[in-house]
Amino acid sequence: MCDSKVNRCECVHKTFEQLKSFDSFEAAQAATGCGAECEGCTPYIKLMFASGESEFDIEDPRLTDYE
Ligand code: FES
Repeated sequence: MCDSKVNRCECVHKTFEQLKSFDSFEAAQAATGCGAECEGCTPYIKLMFASGESEFDIEDPRLTDYE
């Protein structure tokens, strides 16, 4: 799909679609290590659990609530 969208944790090679099957960011991180390496994806994963969406603009304005 479109490269300009953020839709995965690059460090653990999991798409947000895959991570969505967990109940929370904490559960997903405990199971996969997502968000624990560079942490660049952390606000996106939190926004994913809050919004139910699984891909985001790099500059999504809602991210400021999850940094
Ligand atoms: S991209 Fe998710 S921890 Fe680096």
